[in-house]
Amino acid sequence: MLFTALFHTHKLVVILFAAIYLLKTVLLLVNKTNTLQRFTNFIKIPEMVISLLFLLTGGYLLMDIASFDMLFILKLVFVFTSIPLAVIGFKKQKKAFALVALALIMGAYGLAEVHKARLGKRHSFTEEVITNPQAENYVLSLHGKALYNAQCAVCHGQDGTAGLSGAKNLQASKLTEGEIEAIINKGKNTMPRMQGKFNDQEMKALLNYVKSLRQ
Ligand code: HEC
Repeated sequence: MLFTALFHTHKLVVILFAAIYLLKTVLLLVNKTNTLQRFTNFIKIPEMVISLLFLLTGGYLLMDIASFDMLFILKLVFVFTSIPLAVIGFKKQKKAFALVALALIMGAYGLAEVHKARLGKRHSFTEEVITNPQAENYVLSLHGKALYNAQCAVCHGQDGTAGLSGAKNLQASKLTEGEIEAIINKGKNTMPRMQGKFNDQEMKALLNYVKSLRQ
């Protein structure tokens, strides 16, 4: 929650920061040095607040971010080269400095967007794996196997053929899912009643696994 709020603040502040750069650069380029001077004085306090917020939110996000890849480092380099260049450029009215500073800050913003898009892609890739039916079946069968080995294998054996204490051979069983579920719930002869022991997800996994023992 805090992270998202800070992230949005950071983004807004960056946009304002870049907008001020842009305006100043344009004024400098068209030789409106008086207007530039007035604008610089006018924006001085807000710009200080913005710069401070920019560094504070950025610093905080930095501590919270785990993905220090090349793009990210490049972005930091861009930002920290841009700031002194801009200071010199606007103060000494050096157009080239101002232009490079503007390009760098815009570049940093662009890199941040690319970085985010990449993270986003990674996220949807994970999502795809989770919602992939094959992966889901795999998880279901592991779940079923674990439950079966813990609750059923004592009598039926891991492969379903042990037949201990009169247990039926599950590989040869021809029962439907509904019938298997009924036997699990109600029990039969020495097979204990297990009503309420498994939730829906567990029962589904178990039924799938019991049927998969058949050849
Ligand atoms: C204490 C031993 C025991 C345990 C534990 C046990 N069973 Fe059984 N199971 C039996 C016995 C005995 C029968 C045969 C009942 C009869 O028909 O007389 C049986 C029968 C069955 C049948 C019916 C097979 C058929 O074709 O008639 C299924 C299916 C089955 N068990 C599944 C399971 C599952 C799944 C579990 C674990 C959740 C489990 N059993 C745990 C003893 C056990």
